[in-house]
Amino acid sequence: MKEVLMKFQEISDKLTQFINRYNYLTEDRSANVLFLLTCIVLKYLADNQRIDFEAHRKDIKKHFTLDYILGLWQGAPLRSAFWEQEQIDPQPIGDEIWGWVCELTTASPSLAGENPGLIGSLYEASLLINHKKNHGIFYTPENIAAYMASDVLRSFQPGHDQQDFRILDPACGSGSLLNAVYDEIVAQSGALSPAEKEAQHRQLLDTCLLGVDRDPIACLVTRLILTLKGSQYVKPRGVFCGDILTEEIVTAQSVDVVIGNPPYVGHKEIQAEYMKLLKNRYAEVYRDKGDLSYCFIYRGWELLKPAGQLIHITSRYFIEAFYGKPLRAFIRKAFAIQEIVDFNGLRVIEGVGVDPAIIRLAKKNRIDEGQTILVKRFFIKNHKPESYPQLIQSLEQNNQQSDIYESFELLQARLNDDSWRLYSPATQGIIEKIEKKTPFALDNVRPLSLNRLIRHFVPLIRSC
Ligand SMILES: C[S@@+](CC[C@H](N)C(=O)[O-])C[C@H]1O[C@@H](n2cnc3c(N)ncnc32)[C@H](O)[C@@H]1O
Repeated sequence: MKEVLMKFQEISDKLTQFINRYNYLTEDRSANVLFLLTCIVLKYLADNQRIDFEAHRKDIKKHFTLDYILGLWQGAPLRSAFWEQEQIDPQPIGDEIWGWVCELTTASPSLAGENPGLIGSLYEASLLINHKKNHGIFYTPENIAAYMASDVLRSFQPGHDQQDFRILDPACGSGSLLNAVYDEIVAQSGALSPAEKEAQHRQLLDTCLLGVDRDPIACLVTRLILTLKGSQYVKPRGVFCGDILTEEIVTAQSVDVVIGNPPYVGHKEIQAEYMKLLKNRYAEVYRDKGDLSYCFIYRGWELLKPAGQLIHITSRYFIEAFYGKPLRAFIRKAFAIQEIVDFNGLRVIEGVGVDPAIIRLAKKNRIDEGQTILVKRFFIKNHKPESYPQLIQSLEQNNQQSDIYESFELLQARLNDDSWRLYSPATQGIIEKIEKKTPFALDNVRPLSLNRLIRHFVPLIRSC
């Protein structure tokens, strides 16, 4: 892990130096990013011996495009463009820049054997911080993506022979979650022959993995990552550029799993016209000062097949926020809530200014009275960012006795739309005792934080 991070840093530094030196060559940011992506793909293919760089040096310099390089990998020119966006013909590469490309391609660090998901992190590093904040663009870190993929797929166990299994990331960014889903499906399939592996890769890219994003370059990155996971060139057919909330890109009730990290964007950041449109379209869940991410849960429900599952990492505010009430009511009615991981204020995604939670839901017409939710709720402690990977790993171990989080089951029927109280039966008992002795409900106390109140009251109650 440490080695990969060092490599990532080294390559990221090289790209930054390049941008700083040559950015004046074109004002077009996407052309610059496309150029750098082409360089990384070339290096990835050369380092992994899928193309012979030395043998094709001169031709690559003459035709420095993604399509040309991927065509070399395929052994024949591509029949259809890899990326459907309109592309301006690239300028011929001058000797100085070509020297830089050759140095990047041939010098260390090598990308041999690396997960191509690394390209997504390089793309994220190229985004400006203000742009990321304004648009809620923070990609899911590898370990959280891996947890979510294994958590949701465990209940499906899709083998490579399940032809119509479809998984969608409705706002796929640069493919972090789809990359993890791919790895999880491969891991679950066990040992396969090379021919079976190739067939599985083809099926995953042809029909199984779907992604949508408004950012065309993020879509390109997702496609590249998925393509580079195979030993033979296969074009991914399921990644589309567009607005999942307002366009009919994916057929309703056609996917088995929705996996996502929807943008968390408050009402102040959304353009008035767009917000009006969404408030009409998603009136059941998105009102007043609700959050854009609420629409994604509703949209996910529309796109899921009956009994399909949705897993999101999102802000935990919807659990208690006043404006989250319509969403909570909708979730309770339309889904059997399977699991909630409440990080309880721990900001496990670097740079993100909201408190995350993971929620896993199964689409149901009727919710059983006895439907229980598995809650994993982190204890409030001063964890340091260095320990986050370990914390995430502890989730995978399903350790009931963890001293990092408490894990308990809760009846869905006990949730109240006004606010979801995710407390263990013991804590809930204590809260009820407190409330019996006071003229108000603790949820109505100003957010002095229920947790702090409990910390104060528990010793008192215990001594009663
Ligand atoms: C928080 S990022 C998550 C990306 C990716 N799913 C991940 O986990 O790394 C949110 C993504 O949503 C995309 N997005 C925002 N609004 C969208 C919409 N209406 N339709 C599709 N994508 C959207 C942004 O471009 C951004 O890439």
